[in-house]
Order: sequence, then C-alpha cells, then structure tokens
Amino acid sequence: MSKTLIVTGGAGFIGSNFVLMLAELRPDWRIVNLDALTYAGNLENLTDVQDKEGYVFVHGDITKTADVERAFDEATKLGGDISVVHFAAESHVDRSIVSGMPFVQTNIAGTQVLLDVSRARGVERFVHVSTDEVYGSLGDTGFFTEDTPLAPNSPYASSKTASDLMVRAAIHTHGFPALITRCSNNYGPYQFPEKLIPLMVANAQEDKPLPVYGNGMNVRDWLYVRDHCEAILRVLEKGELGEVYNIGGNNEYPNIDIVKLILQALGKPESLITYVTDRPGHDQRYAIDASKIRDELGWEPRYTFEQALPLTIEWYQSQDVWLQRIRSGAYREYYAEQYGAR
Ligand code: NAD
Ligand code: DAU
Repeated sequence: MSKTLIVTGGAGFIGSNFVLMLAELRPDWRIVNLDALTYAGNLENLTDVQDKEGYVFVHGDITKTADVERAFDEATKLGGDISVVHFAAESHVDRSIVSGMPFVQTNIAGTQVLLDVSRARGVERFVHVSTDEVYGSLGDTGFFTEDTPLAPNSPYASSKTASDLMVRAAIHTHGFPALITRCSNNYGPYQFPEKLIPLMVANAQEDKPLPVYGNGMNVRDWLYVRDHCEAILRVLEKGELGEVYNIGGNNEYPNIDIVKLILQALGKPESLITYVTDRPGHDQRYAIDASKIRDELGWEPRYTFEQALPLTIEWYQSQDVWLQRIRSGAYREYYAEQYGAR
C-alpha cells in the first residue's frame, strides 16, 4: 500500500541507507526527510533520490516544534496517512563523553517534540530507532533480550534510553501507535568516518595510525546496514504496536580482529595499529538475541560478515572523493550549492 513517511535523520548513515532502500523496494511511497544537517548529515548521500517525485527534503531541527510542523505540512501536501521513522540523533559515544548536552537536547527533547507533534497531527505508525546500548554491557556470555533491564552507561546510551522511555510513556499513557527497535553496531556505506570501521579504513588507506582503544578486546555484534534497514521496514509494516524488537547480526568480533581484517583486506601492515588510552566507561561486550523479530516477523539478516565487510571496504575505496570531502569538511558546501538559491 502506498504510504507517506516522515523520516527524521535521513541524511545520516542509517537514515540515508533507509531512504535509498525505500526508493528501490517501495518506489511509490512518498518521503519527507527532516534533517538538521549536523556534522553527521550529508545530502551527498542522497543524490540518487533528490529529484525523485514524492521525495521532499526539509532542513529542520527536531527540537523545534515549528520545524517538525513544517515536515508534517509537507507530508500532508503529499497526501495519505502519515507514518514516522525516527532516526535523528546525536549518535557518537565519544562525543557524548566530551559533551552530554547536545545528546540531551536532540535525543531526549527532540524525540519528545516529535512525539507531541505526531500525536497532535495523527500518525498511522511511529517507529523509534533505538540501540542495544540501552541494555548496558555484557560479560563473556549471554545476550540482550527485549526483557533485559535498561542499564545504559554512556551519556549517549542514557539519552537514548530516556528517549525510549518517553516513547513508552506515549504508548502507555496516550495509546500512541509507536514501536521501538534496538539494534547492534551497524557497518556499511555512508557511515561517518568517526566510527570504528570507516575510521580504520580511511586511516589505513592513508597509512595513518589506527587508534585501538584499551586492549582491543571489547566485543561488538556487527550488522550490515542494509539488513538493519530491512528489519526497520519489517517492523514498520508488520510489527505489533507498542512492542520492542531487538535487531542483531549474531556476529560478534573483538575490535582488534576487525582492525586486522581491514588491514589484511587493504594489504597494509599491522604496524599501523596503535593502542591508545581506553574510552572512559567503555562497555565490554554487546550481543543481541534477535529471536523475537525472527520468530514473530520472519526477519533474518541476509548478509554475512564475510560477504559484507569486503563490500563495505570496497565501497570506501571506490568513494575516496566522498570520504575526502567529509574529512576536509567540504561536503558541507553541498547544501549551499544545491539549495542556497532555492
Ligand atoms: P548519524 O549520526 O550518522 O546520523 C544522524 C542524523 O540525524 C544526521 O543526518 C543528523 O544531521 C541528524 N540530526 C541530528 N540532530 C538532529 C536534530 N536535532 N534534528 C534533525 N536532525 C538531526 O547516526 P546513525 O548512525 O545513522 O544512527 C541513526 C539512528 O540509529 C540513531 O538514532 C542511533 O541512535 C541509532 N542506531 C545507530 C546504530 C549504529 O551502529 N550506527 C546502531 C543502532 C541504533
Ligand atoms: O551498539 C550500537 C551502537 O554502536 C550505536 O547505538 C551507536 O550510535 C554507534 O556509534 C555504535 O557505538 P559504539 O561505541 O559501539 O561504536 P564505535 O564505532 O564508536 O566503536 C566501536 C568499538 O570500537 C568500541 O568498542 C570502541 C572502539 N573504537 C572506536 C573508535 C572510534 C576504537 O577502538 N577506536 C576508535 O577510534
């Protein structure tokens, strides 16, 4: 069925992959992309859809009611029932350690503004994209299930947990038609090169040191971004309102192994590895039990790490202009070039 979707944060890593995927899998859906274009938002990710009929970009901030209203006005003009998929967030743990306030503002206050306007305007469904970091850290064994107690450790994780709780309150108090997803670490095209995999690929390509935190033995559960996007689409279309769905790849690796795989793939020496002071409060291990979304909604990852890590590395190698424009900051000029005169 044709839909009108407001996607927040659609110029970021996962949001842009999601918008590009919808153009392929649901070409008749109309999309309003509401994004503030922070350092992490890059319209160059979306050149393939920017002129597509039924796609509208709204430059706006989810913490500002008027901006969110503007996105709803655009969606209303496009017609049909409106649903929301909410990606917009401050997403980097290290930045949250330096300064927590932007995380409180966007992730908590911004989510509340979006909930309030969505409720006032009426939405069919609202998917809140959250993270496995709300569950805290695991020891050597065990997995996060949807019933694992919330125990976030970083300012980023705590702000995402607070946003999940505001969504929960809207569901419980107002019967708001929301669903929550909690995913493990994503990798793939268009990820901002501050996160582990694109940072290591970019540095290795330039023969720069690869900074590994602590002893490199922290473990993450890696999922290819396309698999995450397909899971979100499944939750949007088939998920039960009010439910939480964990999403993961069942694909655990210590960081140091990932870094070595990247060096091997690029034919670079392990002497580039540089152990640096650990991240304060560094979570030891994340691992997701995704049996609920598999058993109830029939979603499973389609890509193995062995397939998708090489694809990802090749993508960054082939997109050295994209990478260089981000690393130099030049990508920010794109908005002015494209939209300045409009
Ligand atoms: P990202 O940092 O790459 O992109 C965030 C996007 O949100 C950017 O386009 C940015 O401009 C936009 N944005 C930030 N503040 C905004 C505001 N106030 N108003 C409007 N737009 C704003 O993030 P990502 O890695 O794509 O993550 C997207 C979502 O998925 C986040 O909610 C994150 O918590 C969640 N998540 C990420 C991962 C991961 O591994 N990257 C895993 C699980 C969940
Ligand atoms: O688990 C989901 C989360 O995954 C998302 O909610 C976050 O938005 C996303 O950023 C990611 O968080 P992490 O902190 O796990 O990702 P990051 O890429 O920053 O780090 C991955 C691991 O690599 C972590 O153990 C820290 C380590 N690391 C990271 C960087 C940037 C290094 O050793 N060196 C580095 O330079």
